[in-house]
Amino acid sequence: MHPIAILTGASSGIGAAAAEQFLEAQYTVINLSRRECPIPEVTTLTTDLSDTQSLANSSKALCEIVTARGVSSVCLVHNASLMLKDRCDTTDDEAMLQALSVNVLGINTLNRALLPLFPSTSSVLYVGSTLSEKAVAGAYSYIVSKHAQLGMMRATCQDLMGRGIHTALICPGFTDTSMLREHVGNDADVLSSLGEMNSYGRLVAPQEIADLIFWAHHHPVINGAVMHANLGQVEH
Ligand SMILES: NC(=O)c1ccc[n+]([C@@H]2O[C@H](COP(=O)([O-])OP(=O)(O)OC[C@H]3O[C@@H](n4cnc5c(N)ncnc54)[C@H](OP(=O)(O)O)[C@@H]3O)[C@@H](O)[C@H]2O)c1
Repeated sequence: MHPIAILTGASSGIGAAAAEQFLEAQYTVINLSRRECPIPEVTTLTTDLSDTQSLANSSKALCEIVTARGVSSVCLVHNASLMLKDRCDTTDDEAMLQALSVNVLGINTLNRALLPLFPSTSSVLYVGSTLSEKAVAGAYSYIVSKHAQLGMMRATCQDLMGRGIHTALICPGFTDTSMLREHVGNDADVLSSLGEMNSYGRLVAPQEIADLIFWAHHHPVINGAVMHANLGQVEH
């Protein structure tokens, strides 16, 4: 019997760090993203979560993997996200749909294909954000979709009641990855000031979020929980 971890967005950042953790614990690790996972032992199913056909192909392949003999448990980590810079008064429907495709509909497709097949002791973990429960200016479609992920996680908990499958929403604060760096235009001063916005005066390391993802999979008592991981942010 062997466990499997399926992660979206393990080609970089938090996803790649989590893939490494699961590999070290002898999991079979599968990544869904457009680029390869940098860790050679991880199998990448090249997937564009905003593309229906690409998702259908990967879902089919995943169903075969999950139903193969000897799979003891599955950890599905909805980690990939698209973060646009946009506002409530200018975002056109196409941009909103693009964000929702990756951040919400892609999750829905994978859940629909895979959850009926999961053995008990599996988990479905959502990587949300501090912005799953609050808002800042200039990240409208991202905030909408991160709030949607909170609802998805809570509904997952209720709908899978009694199946022996648990869920949680893990909400990173400012974490040192390409998503954050690109969002601030790779401005070292801005990154440094974001790092000052918590009790420890630094950005969160991707490995710290990966630790929490790995821990959450192994502790079903947190079923339905929202877990913030931000070093204690300064509130304004
Ligand atoms: N970094 C932070 O400060 C921060 C804060 C709060 C929450 N988070 C959350 O943490 C999660 C991981 O982000 P990260 O910070 O580790 O950023 P990252 O290093 O930029 O990783 C983002 C991942 O999403 C994947 N992705 C994006 N669009 C995709 C698409 N259309 N199809 C498939 N995969 C796609 C990317 O893969 P490809 O480009 O290879 O497709 C990449 O692996 C996200 O949900 C993010 O919202 C991050």
